[in-house]
Amino acid sequence: MPQCRICKSSYEPFISFGQMPIANGFIRPEEFSKEYFFELATGFCSKCNMVQLIDQPNRDMMFHENYAFFSSTSAYMQQHFKEFAELIMNEIGQKANPFVMEIGSNDGIMLQNFAKAKIRHLGIEPSANVAKIAFDNGVNTISEFFDENLARKIMAEYGQADAITAANVMCHIPTIHSVVEGFRILLKPNGIIMFEDPYLGDIVENTLYDQIYDEHVFLFSVASIGYLFGEHGLEIVDVMPQITHGGSMRYVIAHKGAGKISQRVIEQREKEKRLGLHLPETYVQFRKNIENSRDRLVELLTSIKKQGKRVVGYAATSKSTTINNYCGITAELVEYISDTTPIKHGKFSPGTHIPVKPYKDFCDNYPDYALLYAYNHAREIMAKEQKFMAAGGKWITYVPKVGVLG
Ligand code: SAH
Ligand code: TMP
Ligand code: ZN
Repeated sequence: MPQCRICKSSYEPFISFGQMPIANGFIRPEEFSKEYFFELATGFCSKCNMVQLIDQPNRDMMFHENYAFFSSTSAYMQQHFKEFAELIMNEIGQKANPFVMEIGSNDGIMLQNFAKAKIRHLGIEPSANVAKIAFDNGVNTISEFFDENLARKIMAEYGQADAITAANVMCHIPTIHSVVEGFRILLKPNGIIMFEDPYLGDIVENTLYDQIYDEHVFLFSVASIGYLFGEHGLEIVDVMPQITHGGSMRYVIAHKGAGKISQRVIEQREKEKRLGLHLPETYVQFRKNIENSRDRLVELLTSIKKQGKRVVGYAATSKSTTINNYCGITAELVEYISDTTPIKHGKFSPGTHIPVKPYKDFCDNYPDYALLYAYNHAREIMAKEQKFMAAGGKWITYVPKVGVLG
């Protein structure tokens, strides 16, 4: 039986999605024969409440100089991180010469706000291509993986931080104890940590099983984050639900005893109990909901195809890799996937090899249906695609239920 990465207890997988490729591993035909696959399976540890992958590919296979995810492709996320940065600036506003650190800073989507405000900052971003974009835009960035050792080096060079932040990266790091210990070392006695990740409560409630893929080694809850940070003398002082990525949670953390614990933390913990996030049977039901969602989606796509209609995928997200491979969606069902990221064009989706084409192809020849892989950007996309809908175009969705919109 696998051992929990947080508390070392044994736990059991509750679902296997079968063989999966690297979610962001967009690939050329000459590389098909050596494509890497691993078994994507997830389990729940009932001692510390962490939901986690049984196996995760080596980090160098996911984060490197050709990393395909560029944070700034979404205008909505740019606004989201501007507001997040303003919240942090408010927190540290009174301090003399404050210092802010971010891990997983990608193309600088968050830290550019601190750079513009001339606030001392440092981004840690191992994927060299996206780190370079940030650096070239005046965001102080080093291209390394953050861990306790790096924290000690940063401490020697920059001193402790007033604020440490992270978004959609804590859940990527299997050796998370080392990261949290690094935070403890680097955080000033009255400093704050603010980070956010997709939230287990939303994932279970809305069957967002596509949040399970190689990079997401953990699905966090207030209970599991409280346990993890508690092991390092840190505690959650506030939580702020977010609508990003289909439902996320922002955690505010301080040294134990340094801050007042908000009523919201207590209420969210109670809500998690009501949802049964601490009970193994919840995950048995989650598995059944996932299987049901898959069967409905395959049925819908197959029947639309039988009517001779054209279906195109909208946005080659990392999450779509789980959907395509688990549901067996190939170019037979989805003609191609339209995406705005140049690095993905001319390549094929991981595993089931659907061609990825520029957004222009979509605009030039609207399909009958668009399968909305980027449901987390639905609002931005719907606003942009009035013409597609006016031309009779319809959306296929699987969140929170499989169906057709428009
Ligand atoms: N914060 C951005 C990017 C999220 S993608 C956003 O929310 O849009 C996750 C990023 O974390 C990737 O750019 C990846 O290269 C980086 N990353 C992965 N492991 C890391 C580690 N150990 N330390 C710092 N960054 C890491
Ligand atoms: P994400 O869901 O992981 O944030 O990935 C977003 C992907 O969706 C990225 O490859 C860019 C793409 N995208 C589009 O193609 N069109 C859009 O309008 C938006 C918002 C995203
Ligand atoms: Zn555990």
